Parts: sequence; structure tokens; C-alpha cells
Amino acid sequence: MSDPGTIQLDVHLSQTDAGAALRSDVTRGLAASPKELPPKWFYDARGSELFEQITALPEYYPFRTERALLTDSVDDVARASGADTVVELGSGSSTKTRLLLDAFTRAGTLRRYVPQDVSESALRGAIDELHRDYPHLDVHGVVGDFTRDLDRLPGAEPGGKRMIAFLGGTIGNLLPGPRHDFLLHVRSVLQPGEQLLLGTGLATDPAVMVPAYDDAAGVTAEFNRNVLHVLNRELHADFDVDAFQHVAVWDADNSWIEMRLRATRDMRVRVADLDLGVDFTAGEELATEVSAKFTTDVLDDVTAAAGFTTTRRWVDPDRRFALTLLTAA
Ligand code: SAH
Ligand code: AVI
Repeated sequence: MSDPGTIQLDVHLSQTDAGAALRSDVTRGLAASPKELPPKWFYDARGSELFEQITALPEYYPFRTERALLTDSVDDVARASGADTVVELGSGSSTKTRLLLDAFTRAGTLRRYVPQDVSESALRGAIDELHRDYPHLDVHGVVGDFTRDLDRLPGAEPGGKRMIAFLGGTIGNLLPGPRHDFLLHVRSVLQPGEQLLLGTGLATDPAVMVPAYDDAAGVTAEFNRNVLHVLNRELHADFDVDAFQHVAVWDADNSWIEMRLRATRDMRVRVADLDLGVDFTAGEELATEVSAKFTTDVLDDVTAAAGFTTTRRWVDPDRRFALTLLTAA
């Protein structure tokens, strides 16, 4: 039997840093035209819980489609990678990750799992459960922002190899400029030959995509509006959350689903901690998230531009989601 695994949690996003980042994002976003907020602020404890509920919705096909692709591919991924450390960005509850951890365990290479997420609550829950279920695995969680804190991830063990997993289609939540910077940054922290396993939504029928972001039970609407609860709590804002309507539209030109919050009446919102008054007119929309959907050609271009070669790809029979194993060139 191998030694018992260790457990560690690094908090790189201090409360002060997170507070300053939120204030700066909100100051900039509410002054922009149209108004916008970055999606990472959805994920307080309630937002992370609402995302978990989204993954169980009948309309939200990305989660179960990626899970099926992982089930089919994990043993090949583990063999091709040979990594002793699996790093996961935006790991959330690490549910699908268990498929990967099991395959890397079967391959006999796995020593360490490094989940990184901006949501401390999601990460703490995941780490505790993983430590219980994988008692011989070293679990080293990192609370941080994957657009800023990649340099702070633990390096390879001497003679070891890492694979970074970025699942769920979360890369689609980055706009093209920040997405390119992010991929370059991921490439720069990997050694040549190390791998990135990337999950991405593929562009498909809008009649399938739009309901996934506008479900009948209204869970996605609650998730979207949650960002206003976060601002009310963290910045002492006074958004009348129920006066904002959830909007999800397919933008074919940009190949992304866009979520917005539409003001249903004229209102003035006060953000006390920023000493800011913000006016909304009835019908005005606040952009909260894009979720880009790719073609496999675009994916190859986007990843090659950041220094990755495509090693293997798995696509579901309906061509709604792709899992791509990329190698740092
Ligand atoms: N990977 C999981 C969860 C996807 S939800 C899955 O595939 O089901 C997106 C996750 O990314 C959430 O857990 C959220 O907290 C995290 N996240 C969003 N923006 C982030 C950022 N900038 N840095 C780190 N984590 C982020
Ligand atoms: C985390 N991310 C990949 C989800 C998505 O599908 O873009 C977030 C989400 N937004 C609405 N529903 C789910």
C-alpha cells in the first residue's frame, strides 16, 4: 500500500485582493456602455450551488455530454499523458474529475491532484470529499483566479509530468482577447510535452443551445441574478434583484450564447461601498456572461496560436461538445 495522501489548501486570492478586484470590475463594468459584469462573480457559495443544480437540468446538455466523452476517453488520456499530477482549472465540485482520477490511478501514474478555483466554498467541499475517497492521493487545492494566478500553481515534481484539465466549456466564458492571453499563459507554465485537456462546447442548433441557458425551471435565471445578490452583499448595493429579467440569446456572428439581465423599469441603483449611483432605463441590459461555442477548425486555430498541437479529440455523436487533448509544443 502507498503512503497516505496529504491535503493542502493555498488561498492565493486573499479577501483583500478579491474585494479590490470586485470593486474594480464593478466600477468599470457599470460605467461601460452597454453595462457588463465578468462571470466569475457568479460563484459565491450560492452561485456554485446553483451551478451544481444547472448541471442536473434536462436542458443543460454540456455537462452530461462531456461526462460521456470523458467516460469513453479517460483511459486513453491517462495513457497518452503519463502524468503524475493532474491540475484542474475552474474545478468547482470536481465531480467529472473523478473519472480522470480513476483512470490515472488505473494507469498507475497518479500522485497528486491540484484543483484551482475562485470559489473557496466549492474547493473546500471538493477537497474534503476527494481526500475521503482517494486516501492515497495528495490533494493540493489552490483558491485563485485562472486568468491571473497560474504562476502560483505548484510545479512538476522532479522527473514528473503534469496534465492541466480545463473542463466544462469554461474557456468559452472568456472573450477572445483574454482567451488568447489565458492559453498563452497556460502554455508558458507547461514544459514542452506536457498536456492540456480542454472541454469545449461546439456550435449546434440554437433550439438546443438556447434552452440550455434558459431552462424551464428558472435555475439559470436565478444563477444569472445571483451576481446582483453578490454586489448587494459585498458592496452594499441596493439592486432590486427581482426587477431584473434573465435573458439568454444566441449571437451567431460571435458564435456565443450571451446572458444578460434586463431592467424591467427605470431605476437608480446605489453601490454604497463605491459611492456610486447607477441609472438603468426600462429595457436596458447588463451583459453578464458569454459562452462561446466552437467549430473544431476554430479550436485548432485558437490553440495552435498559443503553441499547442492537437494530440487527440473526442466529439459526441450529435457534435455538441468536444474534448481535446493538446500537447505543449
Ligand atoms: N469544471 C466544472 C465546473 C465548471 S463551472 C465542470 O466542468 O462542471 C465554472 C467553474 O469555474 C466554477 O467553479 C467557478 O467558480 C470557476 N471560475 C469561474 N471563473 C474563474 C476564474 N476566473 N478563476 C478561477 N475559477 C473560476
Ligand atoms: C461554467 N460554464 C462553462 C457554464 C457555461 O455553460 O457557459 C456557465 C453557465 N452559464 C449558464 N449556465 C451555465
